[in-house]
Amino acid sequence: MKINIAIDGPAGAGKSTIARLVARALSYIYVDTGAMYRAVTWFMMEQGIGPEFPEKVLQLTQKMVIELIPGEDGQKVLVNGEDVTPYIRSLQVNGMVSQYSQIEGVRRHLVALQQQMALHKGIVMDGRDIGTTVLPDAEVKIFMTASVKERALRRYKEMNDAEGLTLEQLEKDIERRDRLDAEREISPLRCADDAIVLDTTHMDIPQVVDTIVDYCKTYRGGEKN
Ligand code: CDP
Ligand code: CDP
Repeated sequence: MKINIAIDGPAGAGKSTIARLVARALSYIYVDTGAMYRAVTWFMMEQGIGPEFPEKVLQLTQKMVIELIPGEDGQKVLVNGEDVTPYIRSLQVNGMVSQYSQIEGVRRHLVALQQQMALHKGIVMDGRDIGTTVLPDAEVKIFMTASVKERALRRYKEMNDAEGLTLEQLEKDIERRDRLDAEREISPLRCADDAIVLDTTHMDIPQVVDTIVDYCKTYRGGEKN
């Protein structure tokens, strides 16, 4: 029996890396909801429409066609047919994504799309509100954390020097986004009551993947053995 797996947690906790590998191990489909909020942010910035115009943002969001295409080296994100994958993780998008993500209509629209994607089960979905709002009935829910220092260090290691950011700047960016995501009114970053909390500060990637895969394999229709 296929199940749905929800993975939430703060920025840089390892959600997307782990979710992709768990999906591969179980032959499930991975859905990166952060990429959808990033795609909306990138598109609005291209159009010059700031988050202070929520109605205009919502109107345009409803007309956007966002596609997530699974691939060998990660997921591709298309907006109206254009591959925007290289643009959505820029510092500019990082700087604005939590502001656009607070717009109620945008959340409602993207949550509905995400729920449709998960109708047939066999989905590993990561984000901030998956276990609480998008898939409250997901069979397995993980809330993944790690210390701010460790998360900033992980991001630092994956960047190339050209970006010129210091570890301290990365820590600040992560703390700022955590705060905005946790304090917003609509579906804030929050651990679902029935989620398993996994602190990965001292865990490497295979350890985290194995822990979650084992957990999923032992899931039997509501019973964990
Ligand atoms: O990879 P990282 O954790 O830095 O971010 P992400 O998962 O790509 O998400 C980017 C931003 O989108 C977050 O900081 C949130 O503001 C927003 N987001 C959200 O509000 N709800 C989600 N389900 C996923 C992301
Ligand atoms: O999606 P999220 O923002 O939660 O994190 P990510 O982009 O998947 O992971 C951030 C970085 O941490 C990546 O370079 C991962 O390879 C690394 N990572 C790690 O070193 N140890 C872990 N247990 C998980 C992720």
